[in-house]
Amino acid sequence: MARAVALLRAGEVVALPTETVYGLAADALSPAAVARIFAVKERPRHDPLIVHLPTAAAVEEVATVPSEIERRLIEDFWPGPLTLLLTKHERVPFLVTAGRETIAVRCSAHPVFQKIIRDFGRPLAAPSANRFGRISPTTAQHVAEELGGRIPLIVDAGRTDHGIESTIVRVVGKNIEILRPGALAEEALEPYGMVQRASRPSAVIAPGQLDSHYSPQTKLLILEQDTLFDPADHFEQRIGLLQLQPTAGGENAFPPACVRYLSGKGDLREAASNLFGALRELDGFGLDLIVARFVPEQGIGLAI
Ligand code: TXA
Ligand code: MG
Repeated sequence: MARAVALLRAGEVVALPTETVYGLAADALSPAAVARIFAVKERPRHDPLIVHLPTAAAVEEVATVPSEIERRLIEDFWPGPLTLLLTKHERVPFLVTAGRETIAVRCSAHPVFQKIIRDFGRPLAAPSANRFGRISPTTAQHVAEELGGRIPLIVDAGRTDHGIESTIVRVVGKNIEILRPGALAEEALEPYGMVQRASRPSAVIAPGQLDSHYSPQTKLLILEQDTLFDPADHFEQRIGLLQLQPTAGGENAFPPACVRYLSGKGDLREAASNLFGALRELDGFGLDLIVARFVPEQGIGLAI
């Protein structure tokens, strides 16, 4: 952790654990350091970065004082997996926000992340620590597979807790718009305002919501609810299966070695924490196709 702080002070990038996924962190107030994040990730510069704060109170240093609803969300959900879109303070370089007047901010609850960012004492820009478009890392090993050799340090704190990204919201009047579903379920936000799921054009508001994102290199087919899929119809192909939990014989037609369940008992929290690891594992088999079955969209099922 001390080395991480020293490297951050020297304008370097380091991979750090958060409670959602591993992040690739650098000094958010240094354009040169932030530029390294884009270079290491091969991320296009039009895709803005999330800024992480040492404490909730530090929000005032990077954004203008939020509205009442935003204040309540901060009070109740920070530190935690909620990212708020606010109006950026002029001190934050435009490179971080990809030229936007808005800034995405959050405060991580991970003890290792908290220790490092508090010792560092400044906000950290930190996108997920994967190459652009790829599956997000939920272990230090995943980060090494994605970025090994490109960064000086990966701080290993084991598997992340949630396994999927933070929920990104924007408050407009009394409405809370979900720009990216994530580890904080939309139901949890309902007491605070009218929760709305942003429709497709929100790709413009949260540009990372691209059609191809969190993507394995193997072709992935996501089956809607109740869609039948018989691998026997695709006999020339090697096909893997990813689904929430075992069903009565429904997956017998798939090679057992290529079947992954996200949670034996269908628990969505457990499923989320296994999602990217299972996808990465199947991706490593060099299959022709991965078939992923529908997960119910309630709670964090939406994000999964
Ligand atoms: O859980 C998380 O949020 C993780 C951990 C590491 O904190 N971070 C993460 O960052 O998922 P990233 O960069 O992989 O995804 C950030 C998303 C992108 O889709 C980006 O386009 C969007 O947030 N975003 C960031 N700043 C924005 C802004 N000012 N306006 C609109 N969208 C923004
Ligand atoms: Mg990402």
